[in-house]
Amino acid sequence: MDYILSPSLLSADFTKLDREIKICEENNVPYLHVDVMDGMFVPNISIGIPVVKSIRKITDLVLDVHLMIVKPERYIEAFAEAGSDIINIHYEATEDCVPVLKKIKSLGKKAAVTIKPKTSYKEVIHLADYADMFLVMSVEPGFGGQSFIESTLKNVEGLAEYKAAKGYEYDIEIDGGINIDNVTRPLDAGANVIVAGSAIFGKGNTAERIQSFNEIMSRYKG
Ligand code: DX5
Ligand code: ZN
Repeated sequence: MDYILSPSLLSADFTKLDREIKICEENNVPYLHVDVMDGMFVPNISIGIPVVKSIRKITDLVLDVHLMIVKPERYIEAFAEAGSDIINIHYEATEDCVPVLKKIKSLGKKAAVTIKPKTSYKEVIHLADYADMFLVMSVEPGFGGQSFIESTLKNVEGLAEYKAAKGYEYDIEIDGGINIDNVTRPLDAGANVIVAGSAIFGKGNTAERIQSFNEIMSRYKG
């Protein structure tokens, strides 16, 4: 299994996105996590299609796009065309995930189902045949810099157990409140894709922070 760091650009300096992305590339980061918010599904508005398009032009890193928008089915083609590699939709944001996941895959992209902290993994395991990844939110979506919600590890464990029991190969991503001091918790619970925003960007040395994550995650390889 691959262990993958997906730095969330939400906490990056938007006036210097090219530099922030370069630092990620220079430090062997495989994914970039892009948070799209609509002010409806979550009480915040962030970035959208033109920014994904611009980022696509300057990097070959995997763009892990997290859609925090109602009825994501309206924008799948647009985000695929903009250059997303993985499109994460929220289980709570649409009536039926199946056609949306099928649509994402028909466009040659990886499809992921995201659950909020209060949603149980049991509500989404039936989607395992259609999803390349499950994204477990470990904070209420909408803002960076919040504290990790411990109880969400149950969702990681449940998805990991189901995956092992049934022989699935989906990735399990965790997003929210992850830092150097607590990243082993989701990794031990079975997550293999780690999102971190404020623990990577912002104050301090971004390269050093990435290297610290890389060091811890390298112990899980193999
Ligand atoms: C929150 C976003 C996260 C956010 C994480 O809704 O989905 O990706 O950027 O930020 P941190 O790592 O600071 O909790
Ligand atoms: Zn996110």
